Amino acid sequence: MKKKSIYLFVLLFALFCSSSKLVAQNEIIPKPLLVEQQNGFFELNKRTTVCTNLKGDERKLMLSFLKESPLQLLPSKNSQKSNQVSLLLVNEETDFPSTESYRLSISPWEIKIIARSGAGLFYGVQSLLQIAEQHKAGNVYRLQSTSIKDTPRFAYRGLHLDVSRNFFPKEFVMKQLDMMAYYKLNRFHWHLTDAAGWRIEIKKYPMLTFMSAWRPLKSWKEWWKSDRLYCYETDAKAQGGYYTQQDIKDVVAYAKARYITVIPEIEMPGHSEEVVAAYPELSCAGRPYVNSDFCIGNEKSFKFLEDVLTEVMALFPSQYIHIGGDEAGKAGWKKCAKCKERMKTENLKDVDHLQSYMIHRIEKFLNDHGRKLLGWDEILEGGLAPDATVMSWRGEDGGIAAVKAGHQAIMTPGGFCYFDSAQDNPMKEPEGIGGYLPIEKVYSYNPIPKVLNETEQKLIAGVQACLWTEYVPTCEHAEYMLYPRLLALAEVAWSAPERKSFPDFRNRALHAVNFLTRKGYHPFSLKDEEGNKPESCKKEDHLAVGKKIVYKYPYYKSYTAGGDSALVDGVRGGWTYGDSRWQGILNVDLNVTIDLGKVTNIHSVSAQFMQNVGPCIWLPTKVVIETSDDGITYRPLETILNTIPKDKEGLIFKDFGWKGEFSARYVRYIAYPVVRIGGFMFTDEIVIR
Ligand code: ACM
Repeated sequence: MKKKSIYLFVLLFALFCSSSKLVAQNEIIPKPLLVEQQNGFFELNKRTTVCTNLKGDERKLMLSFLKESPLQLLPSKNSQKSNQVSLLLVNEETDFPSTESYRLSISPWEIKIIARSGAGLFYGVQSLLQIAEQHKAGNVYRLQSTSIKDTPRFAYRGLHLDVSRNFFPKEFVMKQLDMMAYYKLNRFHWHLTDAAGWRIEIKKYPMLTFMSAWRPLKSWKEWWKSDRLYCYETDAKAQGGYYTQQDIKDVVAYAKARYITVIPEIEMPGHSEEVVAAYPELSCAGRPYVNSDFCIGNEKSFKFLEDVLTEVMALFPSQYIHIGGDEAGKAGWKKCAKCKERMKTENLKDVDHLQSYMIHRIEKFLNDHGRKLLGWDEILEGGLAPDATVMSWRGEDGGIAAVKAGHQAIMTPGGFCYFDSAQDNPMKEPEGIGGYLPIEKVYSYNPIPKVLNETEQKLIAGVQACLWTEYVPTCEHAEYMLYPRLLALAEVAWSAPERKSFPDFRNRALHAVNFLTRKGYHPFSLKDEEGNKPESCKKEDHLAVGKKIVYKYPYYKSYTAGGDSALVDGVRGGWTYGDSRWQGILNVDLNVTIDLGKVTNIHSVSAQFMQNVGPCIWLPTKVVIETSDDGITYRPLETILNTIPKDKEGLIFKDFGWKGEFSARYVRYIAYPVVRIGGFMFTDEIVIR
């Protein structure tokens, strides 16, 4: 009997071990469409080779990629029939709905990857690399028999990097391309120009790299707060840099070998201070340090832009050329004689149409050279150019409008895709631009808005993470902001929605963080994540919950937090004013009266406010709490003065409240703004106990 139970134990233990191996082998990011595991193992060792029917350049690039990869695979000799990894192109569409689809089968005899294109084979290789990474034993990889059938959800799976606010060397860019490829991202959107620095050598305009690429202050914040001057490359204080045309070619070639298209962004007509400082004749004022936009009335602006784009197109084979288009100030145009003349001759009714005129002309120029225009969603204003694709960043509205008008769109709404926001408790994260974007929120994003019909849905080309770098001065910091959130974005972009599960992904991401660290990256430590503001994680009951609340002045329309009941719904705001739980008050007092229904004993009345000077959010200067039994006569209960200076930076939360013993039916809570015009107050629950 005893012997029998020992046998049973051994049997169960063996079963447990083999099943845990089955689980471990599925840790691929992004989650494949279908994974089946079978019995048996393939041992990938030093004698394993690779054979492929790929031809020409693609063959060379793939073989060199595999030789350099951790698998160190060399091409097979003709005589070799076993111990091979075969990469086979097939001419078949049913099983391979996209050119990037692939099948990977690992059996005890061989490993086979099949696809319709080199890209598909490459993605099969990435899955194989991820599996192998988890099953290395000394010099061999012991890989369980597995069949994978996989296909991407979106054709455009992007990462954007701003190299203007801070310059990052080309080696850093290539290092990120490695991880993009590993996680099956395929578009690198390179934000090469902006006010803080021009970063690409243009032979025809040498001042762009002699002056526009350099500033006397390293810190973007210090520079932004100062006179925002540029200096010369030769100045002792010069900070910044640029990519030579050879650097650009190197990056583009490196990306190509990883099936990544590099999309250059050349900003116009706004965000162009660095250009018009070096070439002031392109601005409306004709003098440096006055305008941020190109003068659209001046033909010289078009000549400059077409010259620049001509050199850019020669360097980047990408079909899309991104022309920015966002946040143009437009103010200079209204006063500029040349712009006014242009508006008259072209019959343009306002400055939005003037911008649209420029985008149309640039689009025609790009189209004439076989390229397509891509721009931020402001390019919709004043009329979208005929064949333009819209990158939707101010929420999803721009993307929705674009596809409803029959254009393609790429979704990159700030609330889900802007990785310059803190990924954990902002009070302990490095100084940032504001906001809170935890990995779970990135993961939750669905790039297909519910309002789209089937035809419109097909026009959503994909999704992209954006890393703006105002507050990201180093390579290590950039990686910290990117990883592991980029892996969540990769799964949003690639995996079928029905295959997604955050707990499952988080588990895989925890392993990926270890992998990334071993590989010399600097990811955020996901295992130490604190999560959202603790009070915001649970609903709280108190005397005011569900009671009638009357506003003397309206709250701001874009930050309603759900409407009148927001301050008495038991739900507290989280780390950011942008989480739809904080109510925003602009240019008026917050003045609300809560009716408790009957005279009630109260011990405390309190509300929390935030200060975040960057986005113009301040604490109130003073809070007054009053009470009444009849709703007509009010008596003061407490006045609380703010002691925190208006210029104190960082994210600050502060309660303004009263504690004591009192009874009343009505509680009036009045908060006076410290900045009368243009400054927000944000508050969450008014808690009465
Ligand atoms: C943007 O964030 N201004 C595109």
